[in-house]
Amino acid sequence: MKKVKRKKRNFSKNFSQAKVFTAPNKETLLLRTIRGMKDILPEEQGYWNHIRRVLSRASQEYGFSRIDIPVVEYANLFTHSIGEGTDIVEKEMYVFTTKGGDRVALRPEFTVGLVRAYIQHGMNVMSKPIKLFCMGQTYRYDRPQEGRYREFSQANFDIFGEEDPIMDAHLVQLAHRILTNLGLRNIQFQINSIGCTQCRKDYRNLLISYLESRKQKLCQDCKWRLGINPMRILDCKEDKCLQVASSVPQSVDHLCEDCHKHFKSVLEYLDELNLPYVINHRLVRGLDYYNRTIFEIWVEREDGKLHSLGGGGRYDYLIKELGGEMTPAIGFAVGLDRIVIEMKKNKVKIYQEPKPRIFLAQLGDLAKKKSLNVFAELEKNGIIVAESFGRGSLKSQLRLADQAAVEITLIIGQKEALDGTVIVKNMKNGTQETVILEKLVPMIKKMLKSDVIISKVGNV
Ligand code: HAM
Repeated sequence: MKKVKRKKRNFSKNFSQAKVFTAPNKETLLLRTIRGMKDILPEEQGYWNHIRRVLSRASQEYGFSRIDIPVVEYANLFTHSIGEGTDIVEKEMYVFTTKGGDRVALRPEFTVGLVRAYIQHGMNVMSKPIKLFCMGQTYRYDRPQEGRYREFSQANFDIFGEEDPIMDAHLVQLAHRILTNLGLRNIQFQINSIGCTQCRKDYRNLLISYLESRKQKLCQDCKWRLGINPMRILDCKEDKCLQVASSVPQSVDHLCEDCHKHFKSVLEYLDELNLPYVINHRLVRGLDYYNRTIFEIWVEREDGKLHSLGGGGRYDYLIKELGGEMTPAIGFAVGLDRIVIEMKKNKVKIYQEPKPRIFLAQLGDLAKKKSLNVFAELEKNGIIVAESFGRGSLKSQLRLADQAAVEITLIIGQKEALDGTVIVKNMKNGTQETVILEKLVPMIKKMLKSDVIISKVGNV
């Protein structure tokens, strides 16, 4: 049988042009996604399904329970927890007032919403540690570029109720496991400790006096940050601030005894696991709720440049600050859009959904009606079937069956529809036979041997 080259559907090619539409006497509609947001088209979904599968599996293996929280929360929840003077709160939150007068925000991250859910649902009574996994869209009004979007997806792993440094290392282990399972290489963790409230206060004062003496050398934003959130200056990407930051006192040299011991243990566990980490003394993270261990996950590309894929750390005080009991907590998030970019760069082979091995063709009105039931019966038995119900010509349907490279084509014509039978055509050797409907499923299963395509597995 002549093999016809299968035409691939390419949605981006067909629809990538922005279109403007003006209805008569109506306003102009700009038919394109808004800046920093994107469609994830069918041809991209393989990467996303693959990531979701790996994340879901890892979350189960590491004992995390799935939780979903709303995209919208009260805005002051984020302002209070992430902190004034942070980029997220000052510049990047999508804040709006609802018709009911509530000031709300699209979530710029998950941690704060998770803590809100922990307190709201009284999870403190559950046995600890409580391990929660969630993923979904997040929103930050930042300047878009490759890997930085205004709508992006994160997966978060958070643990409530465990202070032991082994958890810190265990989470780094999990992040490493996820990324290597996704086929990424050259992962690097950068880690630091910013201490507890007490040693952080002492360090903060030291930092302020150091930075005050170099205030003139800082960028405009950092001059302002000095009065509000001096630690953020260490994170500034401006050349002049980077220079100042290169010689600031280091937080690890000013940890109290307990924090020092905690951080030392984390590093010992990481050494034991042989995980690729470096201590980055300037790492402070862009959110205020952290204390003690903080870390970021980077990938090194072929050109030697590092790209950030995720980050996290301890936030032992946040639950208490939001009105709950004192409960240590730690977590991290990875950015899924960035992982997709790296997977593409690394030409990672992704999981392929099973393809149909059977095509169902029909000819005539009655056959068309019957074919829906035949399709349903096969589908119920886990057999994936390709079809083209909208087409009437048998020739064009058979051409499609050929293109789909199926092994079996089922044909229902007027006669078969009346007799309650189906023609089963073996596409490999061209033989065909007529089978009564009741025997169709067992026969197909036999033909496909035990290798029946089960459509119900794998979708996460
Ligand atoms: P984050 O470092 O702000 O941490 O974000 C985590 C990851 O989300 C980043 O490393 C990056 O991969 C991705 N991401 C952030 N902004 C964008 C963007 N504009 N476009 C694309 N991807 C982006 C947090 O959000 C913390 N809540 C993580 C955490 C969980 N800490 C404790 N538990």
